[in-house]
Amino acid sequence: MVIKKFRDGDELSRTAAKALVELTNQAIAERGRFLISLSGGSTPMKLYEQLAVEKLDWTRAHFFWGDERCVPVDDPGNTYGQTKKSLFDKIGTTNIHRIKSELEPAQAAQAYAHTLSGFADAPFDFPRFDLVLLGMGDDGHTASLFPGSPVEIDSVTIAVSAHYQDRPAKRVSLTPKVFNQAREIWFLVTGAGKAETLRNVIHGERNLELYPAQRIQPVNGNLIWMIDEAAGKFL
Ligand code: 6PG
Repeated sequence: MVIKKFRDGDELSRTAAKALVELTNQAIAERGRFLISLSGGSTPMKLYEQLAVEKLDWTRAHFFWGDERCVPVDDPGNTYGQTKKSLFDKIGTTNIHRIKSELEPAQAAQAYAHTLSGFADAPFDFPRFDLVLLGMGDDGHTASLFPGSPVEIDSVTIAVSAHYQDRPAKRVSLTPKVFNQAREIWFLVTGAGKAETLRNVIHGERNLELYPAQRIQPVNGNLIWMIDEAAGKFL
C-alpha cells in the first residue's frame, strides 16, 4: 500500500490524470483494452474533467462503476449522469457500462452482474479491472459499502439502502470480491473532515464492519491512497 500526499485536490487530480493515461496505454498495449471502475461522489469529478482534455484512444477504454445511486440518469445524484457531463460528452466514447439506475436496486444489481460477466476474466465471472477508483466517506464507507453492512459477501453486486449526507439512499454496489481482484486500486480522499477516519482506516485497528474501506485489500494488485494535505494531517 502506497500513500501519495498532494498539496490540494487540483494537484491530486492533475497528477492522477497523467498516471491514469499511462496506466491506460499500458493496459491497451498488454491486453488491447482498459477496464476502469469509476467512483461516485465529488472528489473524482476534477479528475474526470482533467481526463477530458487528455489524448487517449478512448475506443479501447471501457467504463464501469463501483456503485450507483438508483435515481434517474438526469438526477444530480446519479453518478453516471454527472460523469457524462464532465467526461463522456467531451470524449464521445460509447464504451459505457452503466448500472441501470432506473431499475429497482435488486434488479439493477442483477443486471449489472450480468453485464460484468460479459467481461469475465477466467476463473472469475467478472473482470479483473485495470483500475478501480474509490472514494471514502467521513464514516469510513467506500463505494456503497457502509459501516454495519455485512462483511462476508460472496456476490459480485449488492443492492443496498444507506443514508449518507443528502445523497440518494437506494444503491447498487460492487463488492470487495470484485474490487480486490483489480490490478490497481486508487482511493482519492481529500478534506480535513476525513483526516481522523483516514488515520483509523490506514493505521488503526482492523475493524472491517466499522471501516468498510479496510475491506479493500487487492489480492494481486496495487493499492494507492491519493490524498491531500488536509485529509492526511494525521498520517
Ligand atoms: C458515492 C461514492 C461514495 C463516495 C464517498 C466520498 O456514490 O457517493 O461511491 O463512496 O466515494 O461518499 O464522496 P466524496 O468524494 O463526495 O467525499
